[in-house]
Amino acid sequence: MTLTPDFYSYPQTELASAELDGDWVQLGWPDGLTLRAHRFWLTENTPGRGFDRTSRESIIDPSAIADQSRLSFADVSKDGSLHLTWVDGEQAMLHPGWLRHVADGKHRPGSYLPTRQQWDTSVISEPPTTNGSRVLEDSAVMYHWLSDLARYGVARMTQTPTDRSFVKNLAAKIGPLRSTNFGSTFTVEAKVERDSTAYTGLNLGQHTDLPTRETPPGFQFLHCVENTVAGGWSRMTDGEAIVAELIEHHPEAYAALTDLHWIFFNRSPDCDHRWSGPMIDHGGPDQPLTLRAFYPVRAFPDMAEGDIPRAYAAMKVFSDLAHDDRFQMRFPFTPGDIVGFDNRRVLHGRDAFAPSEGSRVLRGMYIDQDEVYSTLRVLGRSLA
Ligand SMILES: [Fe+2]
Repeated sequence: MTLTPDFYSYPQTELASAELDGDWVQLGWPDGLTLRAHRFWLTENTPGRGFDRTSRESIIDPSAIADQSRLSFADVSKDGSLHLTWVDGEQAMLHPGWLRHVADGKHRPGSYLPTRQQWDTSVISEPPTTNGSRVLEDSAVMYHWLSDLARYGVARMTQTPTDRSFVKNLAAKIGPLRSTNFGSTFTVEAKVERDSTAYTGLNLGQHTDLPTRETPPGFQFLHCVENTVAGGWSRMTDGEAIVAELIEHHPEAYAALTDLHWIFFNRSPDCDHRWSGPMIDHGGPDQPLTLRAFYPVRAFPDMAEGDIPRAYAAMKVFSDLAHDDRFQMRFPFTPGDIVGFDNRRVLHGRDAFAPSEGSRVLRGMYIDQDEVYSTLRVLGRSLA
């Protein structure tokens, strides 16, 4: 079997044709799909010549790539692989299934991840739920839960252990924690000495955490270890659905929310994080949506004076939609529940509760999207 420049297994999707055309090789499959590949790129992806057989990483420094000899011939081998011959006499095979996955676009960052599904409360009225009692032992449980998390931006497990170290044990199976000024993990409960509005029994309006950062944390996880209060229900809203609603019905508010910047600033005796950005940040072409929505740390308008009234008006439209029952789900926390959510996509909030009634203790952590998606791809590969 021809070695591929990665650790996936590919079917032998046999090539129908391979033709050398100057610096290019034109590839074709029986179903009509084609791929035009440059000789430098093919050389970089040739076992031994272009990539290291152990690490599977490229070994040709860009300054040396132009010195690579030209191809003298390209054809299809008996088993349907790409057979290349260089003018220096070296010959090599490239795996047709690996080439096919590029032709199919399956090499892109969204590959091996579930398709994101936009939701309102007519689609899901509570988080998709998995029994998590065996998540630390059974990677299929982890895969199922993380798949829902990637798809909907929110997913719950029930019946997990209620010890305070569970979040760290779970993180050990997913990836490195994203540490913040609240620590590598944190505890959400009513506190007298507090550095966040979260540490009260107050209602918390729909928001995303840490817009004070250049890149706000990707996923947040809240694990309920104690809950004896009646209120304090959790609330989630899909930001993608809000963005779609704004584009369709409130274009002026949408323009203000995407164009006008606010400075987000955490007011703390011990740290000073600041970032300026729009509330709806679409980033670059391949970057996911980032919402910057947390009024406790939204500090200064960073826009022309004349834009300030429409910035506030747009924010009200945004906030009204985020709290509308059409878009906002509400659910209680039971000890043993852990809810994960995409902190840059899904707005979260909490109903008020009375700390005098009892205790409500959530253990929380952040893990960036890169880590969650990498784990999801690797689990998918090993379970396949
Ligand atoms: Fe929060």
